[in-house]
Amino acid sequence: MCGIVGYVGTRQAAPEVYRGLLRLEYRGYDSVGLAVLNGSSLGVVRKKGKVDAVREEIGGMIGTIGIGHTRWATHGAPSERNAHPLRSGKFAIVHNGIIENYRALREELEANGFVFSSDTDSETIAHLFALYDRGDLRETLRAVVRRLEVSFAIAALCEGAPNVIAAARRNSPLIVGRGETGYYLASDIPALAGCVQTVTVLKNGDMALVCADRVQIFDDRGEVRRQEQVCSLRAETLERGDNAHFMLKEMKETPQTIRNTISNFAERVRLEPFLPLFRKLKKIHLIGCGTAYHSGLAGKLAIERLARVPAEACIASEYRYGDPILGDDTLAIAVSQSGETADTIAAAQLDRESGTPLFVVTNVAHSSMASLADLVVPTIAGAETAVAATKSYNGQLTALYLLAAAIAAARGADAKRAEEELNRYPERCEEALSRLEEVERVAQKFKDAKNVCFLGRGVDHAAALEGSLKLKEIAYIPSEGYPAGELKHGPIALIDGRSLVVAIMTQRRLAEKTFNAVAEVRARGAKIFLITPFEEYARREGVDDCFLLPKCGELFSPVLSVIPLQALAYYTAVARGNDPDRPRNLAKSVTVE
Ligand code: G6P
Repeated sequence: MCGIVGYVGTRQAAPEVYRGLLRLEYRGYDSVGLAVLNGSSLGVVRKKGKVDAVREEIGGMIGTIGIGHTRWATHGAPSERNAHPLRSGKFAIVHNGIIENYRALREELEANGFVFSSDTDSETIAHLFALYDRGDLRETLRAVVRRLEVSFAIAALCEGAPNVIAAARRNSPLIVGRGETGYYLASDIPALAGCVQTVTVLKNGDMALVCADRVQIFDDRGEVRRQEQVCSLRAETLERGDNAHFMLKEMKETPQTIRNTISNFAERVRLEPFLPLFRKLKKIHLIGCGTAYHSGLAGKLAIERLARVPAEACIASEYRYGDPILGDDTLAIAVSQSGETADTIAAAQLDRESGTPLFVVTNVAHSSMASLADLVVPTIAGAETAVAATKSYNGQLTALYLLAAAIAAARGADAKRAEEELNRYPERCEEALSRLEEVERVAQKFKDAKNVCFLGRGVDHAAALEGSLKLKEIAYIPSEGYPAGELKHGPIALIDGRSLVVAIMTQRRLAEKTFNAVAEVRARGAKIFLITPFEEYARREGVDDCFLLPKCGELFSPVLSVIPLQALAYYTAVARGNDPDRPRNLAKSVTVE
């Protein structure tokens, strides 16, 4: 949610910053802007829209020190007026986060004679720099940061300090990278891949002065040392290659994600210290937002089936303001691709403060959420660039299934068969991925559907919710995921001849029951797209199209059945002329409440 980049070194800064911003576009693309310092003169370019809106101006921005921003609007409409960098006197700043006390700050600053030229909360930061400026940038930065609540990653340039970027973070991520020609700043590591040899993840409360040849990191108490790690992420892995979109590329990386997550779990996740906890568990909470919440729903079913521990999937934004029953016989599992989702972090903090053991299933091992965890369970999906989550969902499911089996084994159940079953999914997913053109034809046929209803029971209902979310996110078609048996209690009123119903049916014992719901909507004119491994249903009367899944077990089937669902959303979005990688109004990493 907003991405920031900085560069100071021997190269021209604008192209370096621009390249980083392109990689951060998943964090928002409402507006873009750069500031470059040339001697003591600041050049600023700001535009509404995606990062490439400033491509033509980059060549004209001279200077070897610069900052940039790609925005997801919170306060103030997406417009050039509200684009960052925001200026006040000698200063230009970029900001990711929300300044929750901005109203009070704005009144105070206006009373001090500052004139606001945007509707953003962020502009208060620029004016605070000007207010506290006594010629010592480090002291100015400290004074500014003390006034800000609650979430920010900021980078600032000052006309009086031509060689240094001032930066700080609290509750929004910020990374410093060391390259051959200078230092970089960015909201995440992928933005720096290929440019830097090492990265340093700043901690909450850290401030930094970044120069071409050194970085000083300090907090309120004085200078601090942070671990510098080798950046092994290769830039080529962040390219989309021959694929038309990142989303398609990332879907195809699902089998590898599952394999890598399984082997990493076996080799690196140390569960021994938690075996006594597993034995005494009374309850498990799985917490997440969006797709991560949907993984939690499927994870809950696996945990209950295999380990016989009551489990509940919780929406993080509800959980954090609810009154969950916590304690040391409850395990909280926060699930998040980015590890930076504000609501999930707040929920995880709540667990921590109450002494509830906390596991974090995440794709970003150095994330803020990971730093709170008693145990990090990594999903090894690699960088995910498309806003709509795909392979990371499959990775989350894999991690949760592995945990379910481990908890079951610790409680004396036989989980061997479940683990063996999970090992078969990469190949099954490969098989499904080799037939995506079948889904493309279905998408073409139904791209103008008035509404789409995804039906399923149990694990298929969990998959249905994810299929519906994908379609809404990128195809912009109103859609619902519903338990097949619940449809007749209301949503069936939406069904008519322009509706598409996608039925997911992977459990033999429930197939006939789910098919009853299919017959009911068919009788009301809906078109039917069936997703099932059971061939005989594909030929049933009333089925317009069927994607035949490879034969699979029942418990872990969402890992597989989601593939045609993701593909349906993808191809429908493309057929409707949408950009599936950058859907309107969304951002991939929601670092604000
Ligand atoms: C946003 C994204 C979703 C994602 C959710 C949770 O809403 O658009 O794709 O599922 O955040 O993100 P997380 O990084 O916590 O998994």
